Amino acid sequence: MEGPENMTTTVGFIGSGNIGTAVARLAIEAGHQVVLSNSRGPQTLADTVAELGPRASAATNGEAAAAGDIVVVTVPVHAFPDLPAAPLAGKTVIDTCNYGPERDGHIPELDNKSLTSSELLLRYVPGALLVKAFNNIFFKHLVSLARPAGAADRSWLPIAGDSAPAKAVVTAFLESIGYCVVDAGPLAGSWRQATGTPVWGTPYGPYSNESGLPVGEDAIRSALAVATR
Ligand SMILES: NC(=O)c1ccc[n+]([C@@H]2O[C@H](COP(=O)([O-])OP(=O)(O)OC[C@H]3O[C@@H](n4cnc5c(N)ncnc54)[C@H](OP(=O)(O)O)[C@@H]3O)[C@@H](O)[C@H]2O)c1
Repeated sequence: MEGPENMTTTVGFIGSGNIGTAVARLAIEAGHQVVLSNSRGPQTLADTVAELGPRASAATNGEAAAAGDIVVVTVPVHAFPDLPAAPLAGKTVIDTCNYGPERDGHIPELDNKSLTSSELLLRYVPGALLVKAFNNIFFKHLVSLARPAGAADRSWLPIAGDSAPAKAVVTAFLESIGYCVVDAGPLAGSWRQATGTPVWGTPYGPYSNESGLPVGEDAIRSALAVATR
């Protein structure tokens, strides 16, 4: 990986749905390579890869995990037990995932708030250097609010994680694809950006407005500060 100004990296994706393909699109626009995977196999991603162009390819989960300098895990929480732990060990892994019992079934540690969903994920990929990011923004807003560095209306996103080097890598990646970053603390505190918190969705505007509303640093810091668990 090169320096932040001209960082070119390979980003692996485990999960290539709404948010995975939105991040992949921005990554490609920024000059990165992407390797996509899903639950049904690489052949089912042919149309997506064709649309994304020559810097995109499809692979199995394990291959995408192995290929990425950064790997984005962007699946329903109920799929955590299926993730390939070995190739993620030691890697910077972005966790976009949100818990929703109506989709994921009830998970007692998440219902009773003894764990954040990122801490639960870490149990399944124990060697990964996890950084929570993108979980608080609607995928259409993520695409439409990306702005070049220095733009007055560039938006900010929170990240949470326990590894300072991994956070630095993720910060450089987010900056390369159009965002500024607020460090929201460790994984144990990532409930501050979880589903339903003030920083989740709302600051970037209603889903009905696909353009979204640019959000500055102060608004993100304030929303994180007033979150309650
Ligand atoms: N939608 C949003 O705007 C948004 C924003 C922020 C965060 N999130 C969170 O990010 C995660 C992904 O959301 P999404 O909206 O992108 O979901 P989605 O559109 O339903 O896509 C989910 C992806 O995960 C894949 N997947 C499911 N089980 C898998 C497994 N065992 N192994 C590998 N891949 C698997 C699916 O593959 P198949 O299609 O082959 O099953 C699909 O590519 C969720 O936790 C969600 O809560 C969503």
